[in-house]
Amino acid sequence: MSNAVNITEHLHHDVYPAIDPRGALKDSCQGKSVLVTGAGRGIGKATAIAFALAGASNIVLTARSQSELESARNDILSESQLGSKPKILIQVTDVTSEESVKALFDMLERESVQVDVLINNAGYLEKTVPIHVTDTAEWWKTWEVNVKGTFLPTHYLLKTVFSSNATAPTPITIICTSSIGGLTTRPGFSGYQPTKTAINRFAEFVHTEYGDKGVRAFSYHPGGVLTKLAEYGMPPELVRTALIDKPELAGGFCVFLTAPGRYADTDVFRGKYVSCNWDVEDMVKKGKEIAGTEDEARWLLMKLVT
Ligand SMILES: NC(=O)c1ccc[n+]([C@@H]2O[C@H](COP(=O)([O-])OP(=O)(O)OC[C@H]3O[C@@H](n4cnc5c(N)ncnc54)[C@H](OP(=O)(O)O)[C@@H]3O)[C@@H](O)[C@H]2O)c1
Repeated sequence: MSNAVNITEHLHHDVYPAIDPRGALKDSCQGKSVLVTGAGRGIGKATAIAFALAGASNIVLTARSQSELESARNDILSESQLGSKPKILIQVTDVTSEESVKALFDMLERESVQVDVLINNAGYLEKTVPIHVTDTAEWWKTWEVNVKGTFLPTHYLLKTVFSSNATAPTPITIICTSSIGGLTTRPGFSGYQPTKTAINRFAEFVHTEYGDKGVRAFSYHPGGVLTKLAEYGMPPELVRTALIDKPELAGGFCVFLTAPGRYADTDVFRGKYVSCNWDVEDMVKKGKEIAGTEDEARWLLMKLVT
């Protein structure tokens, strides 16, 4: 029996054969150009590595820290199981700044890189304290990085595609990083959790407006991972108990959602919230069960979909 936030009984905490970019998903994203925001460390870096292993030909790494981006590039290129080496582009970008995101897409145009896959991963978590204690600037920063920082890259990608096409010439996948917290109400998370709910709704809008024009949008939970963001913002007891997932799980799951060979299984989840903890084969089974039913229509209200 699944519970309120998980639709599969079997949950994963590390990469497993069905989503392994070194195994079942090797070369599954061949030729794709992938843009990852917040790619300098943590889940974003692991995701960029997963796409390199899955055969992506261009990987665009962005964040504000140049040194972390360079180190992520070195980590990708030193992966021993890479097939052909991808071209890696680095651009320091602040996802909350329209000027900065526009400059990123201008650079991609000059380089003739048309993004096929956008992973909106950059994120921020304020110190999780009660509303009357929280720092206003920090609370709002969470909204800016998570929500505006998801909107801007999506806006500019869609602009590059749809200013001259009615339908995307080739499928575009946009994965927005949500959180299981977007489905729950935990004291102290009054900034972060609603931003993730907003991201779920935004992905739903991307699907509603562009789903029939070749855009595949998802929002997803990347697991509970011990990263700088989590360590900074989360209460220590949660850091100890909830951060049990490897970032490679999220990377493999994003590749699974993107791989053309699995579109027939994953398309039912477009516009919806999914979780990297879910066993993908069980999730695919569940997707086939709900396709065309009431449960599919009200997917965001996860409690109704168990
Ligand atoms: N860790 C978890 O347990 C967990 C759970 C659920 C969801 N998530 C989500 O997963 C995503 C990745 O987080 P993480 O845990 O991997 O944290 P992380 O290791 O701290 O990485 C966050 C990334 O976002 C970038 N970033 C932050 N502000 C930015 C800005 N204004 N412009 C551009 N890039 C910015 C950071 O780079 P710079 O600082 O160099 O800019 C960094 O590369 C986030 O959306 C987070 O909410 C994480």
